[in-house]
Amino acid sequence: MDPEHADLTPATRAVALGRPERSPGAPVGPPVTFTSTYIADGPVNYARVGNPTWTVLEEVLGGLEGGDALAFASGLAAIDAVLTLVPPAGRVIAPGHSYNGTTGLLREYADQGRLEVVSLDISDTAAVVSALDGLQPGRDLLYIESPTNPMMEVADLPVLIDEARARGILTAVDNTFATPLLQTPLADGADIVVHSATKYLSGHSDVLLGAVVTAPTERGREVHQRVLARRSLHGAIPGPMEAWIVLRGVRTLAVRLERAAANARALVERLEAHPGVTRVRYPGLGAMIAIEVGHGPAAADRVCAAVRLWTHSTSLGGVESQLERRRAQPLEVSTVPEELIRLSVGIEDVEDLWRDLAQALDQA
Ligand SMILES: Cc1ncc(COP(=O)(O)O)c(C=O)c1O
Repeated sequence: MDPEHADLTPATRAVALGRPERSPGAPVGPPVTFTSTYIADGPVNYARVGNPTWTVLEEVLGGLEGGDALAFASGLAAIDAVLTLVPPAGRVIAPGHSYNGTTGLLREYADQGRLEVVSLDISDTAAVVSALDGLQPGRDLLYIESPTNPMMEVADLPVLIDEARARGILTAVDNTFATPLLQTPLADGADIVVHSATKYLSGHSDVLLGAVVTAPTERGREVHQRVLARRSLHGAIPGPMEAWIVLRGVRTLAVRLERAAANARALVERLEAHPGVTRVRYPGLGAMIAIEVGHGPAAADRVCAAVRLWTHSTSLGGVESQLERRRAQPLEVSTVPEELIRLSVGIEDVEDLWRDLAQALDQA
């Protein structure tokens, strides 16, 4: 990041980074570059390797996380690129609860004998630290998601990252739920951050995209080159239009998140007082909540079916409030309670949100 932008707050960076040079008549935002190839002898020769619209988005995401970003076709493609940094028979410590695509991918690699996966409660700092002793530097990976999807467990990032670093272990953090406005793991010393930009970064439930952001350190730069090589060879690349849509979403990240988080805090208070809700999981940051409802999964399904303003759909992080009973997803792990409903709070008026949710809870 240039020194001019380094002094800016993250909210301002989200707006100001990645703009074309200012000259009379220049556009204020970057164009979308549709091309599959480039005139020979330039820095990039083929569009599986690079695209100017990705580059702009990567500048903005890198500037927000404090590292060097690479855009991918989806969050899961980005996560896969990180997991494949671990050589065959390497070991990965990972949260027992995390996005179910991530646990599914880890399970598949474990079943194939490609990786050894140590699953544990990522909020149990002592257990994670003790598991780190079994890892091999230069080979293994500490993979964190915090807060976790959908159980909302929180990892002690500074401590876990420090302990991993002291042992020479690579650390990656899925920062999708918190976003770089609430948490910057690279500043805590992590080597890698991954994102599903499909969620808060884009914010409008209209695009899939992922990112890997590496630390501005020697090790981070080495990882960056390996991830870039992986992306170029495996081709899990975003389209230029998708990159542009995410970039436009990022411009409003700060106001969206501020509003959604304020709504979430107001809803948490009311949910805690509602007789139909037996447990509210909210880590105190962001706009994701998980609730458990009395009377089991059928009642939770009735809540999801009874909402009129909230959207009953999978995914999260959009301007529209969404909810879902997570165990209804076949891949969800069995230790997630059957009656758990994940709430992604949007930016609507909180009174409208509460009225709709309360009537659905009352009906169930
Ligand atoms: C925390 C988290 N990480 C990664 C992903 C995967 O992202 P994508 O759907 O963009 O592949 C998701 C999707 O829900 C997620 O919630």
